[in-house]
Amino acid sequence: MSERKTFYITTPIYYPSANLHIGHALTTVMADTMARYKRMNDYDVWFLTGSDEHGQKIERTAKSQGMEPLAYVDRIVAGFKELWKRLHISNDDFIRTTEERHIKVVQEIFKKIYEKGDIYKSEYEGWYCTPCETFFTERQLVDGKCPDCGRDVELLKEESYFFKMSKYQDRLLAYIEENPDFIQPVTRRNEMINFIKQGLEDLCVSRTTFDWGIPVPINEKHVIYVWFDALTNYISALGYGQENDELYRKFWPADIHLVGKDIVRFHTIIWPTILMAADLPLPKQVYGHGWLLLESGKMSKSKGNVVDPNVLIDKYGVDAIRYFLLREIPAGADGYYSEEALIQRYNTDLANDFGNLVSRTVAMVDKYFDGVVPEPKVTGEFDEQLKTVAQNTPKEAETFIEKMDFANALAGIWKLINRANKYIDETTPWLLAKDEEKKGRLGTVLYNLLDVIRISTVMLKPFMPLLPGKVSEQIGVDLTESKWEDAKKWGLMPVGVKITKKEAIFPRVDPKILDIDQEEEKKTPEKKTQIEPIKEEITIDDFAKIDLRVAEVISCEKVEKTDKLLKIQVKLGEETRTIVSGIAQHYSPEELIGKRIVLVANLKPAKLRGITSQGMLLAASNEGVLEVLTLTKDLPSGSRVK
Ligand code: MSP
Repeated sequence: MSERKTFYITTPIYYPSANLHIGHALTTVMADTMARYKRMNDYDVWFLTGSDEHGQKIERTAKSQGMEPLAYVDRIVAGFKELWKRLHISNDDFIRTTEERHIKVVQEIFKKIYEKGDIYKSEYEGWYCTPCETFFTERQLVDGKCPDCGRDVELLKEESYFFKMSKYQDRLLAYIEENPDFIQPVTRRNEMINFIKQGLEDLCVSRTTFDWGIPVPINEKHVIYVWFDALTNYISALGYGQENDELYRKFWPADIHLVGKDIVRFHTIIWPTILMAADLPLPKQVYGHGWLLLESGKMSKSKGNVVDPNVLIDKYGVDAIRYFLLREIPAGADGYYSEEALIQRYNTDLANDFGNLVSRTVAMVDKYFDGVVPEPKVTGEFDEQLKTVAQNTPKEAETFIEKMDFANALAGIWKLINRANKYIDETTPWLLAKDEEKKGRLGTVLYNLLDVIRISTVMLKPFMPLLPGKVSEQIGVDLTESKWEDAKKWGLMPVGVKITKKEAIFPRVDPKILDIDQEEEKKTPEKKTQIEPIKEEITIDDFAKIDLRVAEVISCEKVEKTDKLLKIQVKLGEETRTIVSGIAQHYSPEELIGKRIVLVANLKPAKLRGITSQGMLLAASNEGVLEVLTLTKDLPSGSRVK
């Protein structure tokens, strides 16, 4: 007997800094759909997800809650697992980076690369974005902030180990060019090629200023950089380098690392170069999907606009949420979430198109054939058209699914569903039923409809895992164990089985439910504003290093070709200074003139858009609202603030 083909798919391992939201659910639901589809095609599948538990961000978040990091992440990770269970995620393993089986492998890989001479000790000086856990050079910052998330960065200067990533630049580029499928979709591939061509620098792979991480095996003062640690999960979970490495030998290299577009860079540059240095094979594909956005922009904990999948599951059911995510987000691009859009999809596609097809068909078999599936004896007009669509759909759907284009795969399946609805209108079974001589034809029409329901349900199984069970209960044939091949075969619906009329599979949702919810929200006490965690403790001497002064704005104008920057001239005692500040979306230039503001007067000047900024003004901000700190009493410019 020939060995079954294998398929290894992974999701990113999620940060347990907060509970997961509907955007995270998108990634995992996509991976689950692919895993289920491959299993239906007889692949031996390994599907991995997990949690990325180390790093400064987690350490700080835990501290801000007065908890030990491990106790904090234990609680959050339990929530991850519960959510995946509720969403019927069929992962074969869940890796936590705090597990011994992972820690060992990370240390071994680090050591192996160090011994090879590709990791060396030096001093890091540059910027760090803690929310993104990413290093940046001064040149990479945008307006002095993180180029990825726009948040504040911190200046780091510490002894560190460096990985010789630059050494692998040419080999990586050649690999990407020789393997067009390695980075998908193609837009991301081009972005990465351009990025690499600008030149790779060596990567800082250890930190010394906090200790929530895996110790560097050759120097316990250092912890391993969290991305080096995290990326290794894809092989540590398979037991790489361990006594029992059966899974590694069977499943590595991975077929797909599914990731969001924001972390493609880590997976297509850092990860492959680590693997090259460790003399290990590279994954076959990294697929970077788009983001799920809200009309108001990105979902984020600090904006307090995150959508909890648990609430939606309670309201609409698992299949509906999964369907929405997979249908609404175009392959590789961003998509939008709103509850209105979810209800619209639910009512139109699930309740009307699919739900009605099932309930009408089942009701007619019940009424005209005493609930027994009739034999198709008398063919007629429209049968061939319906059959052709039914036979083409699985082939088209699989081409889309293989490309992770779930939205188009579903759109294609819905063409079949709607072709069947049209077939009901064309064949008018209720009129056929009036004429005893047409009973044979009526039987064929209903049989064909049942077979289309069967075929569609089989194809929908990877997307909506509960659906086959529900449809099976009604049409009298068990579809829960179906193979994808079954969708390609016309006429598998058994004759003579008993159907059972039941309640609607997707009962319509009244869109008014939203207004009711909003009323409820108004009644509940105002939610607490989310605040960022408090930074590490400093001494009074640390604070005394910052020279804050009152400054008077004497002129102000927008910086050309930017939306955010204002160029502000201030008087500081006898001195006049220019500062550039990213507040143009909150203040018009006129509003600031004459105001007395607070300036960090001894900040090293920085160039922004060619203008040297000689200081930074203080402003408070939260959830998109920003206010510059100003004085109301008549204190002269140059006065100290402390
Ligand atoms: N811990 C790292 C991944 C390490 S993998 C070796 C990380 N974690 S994360 O929790 O911040 O994000 C995990 C995934 O969720 C990323 O792929 C990210 O793109 C995805 N998403 C987070 N918000 C999202 C949306 N709003 N929409 C779609 N995906 C989103 O990064």
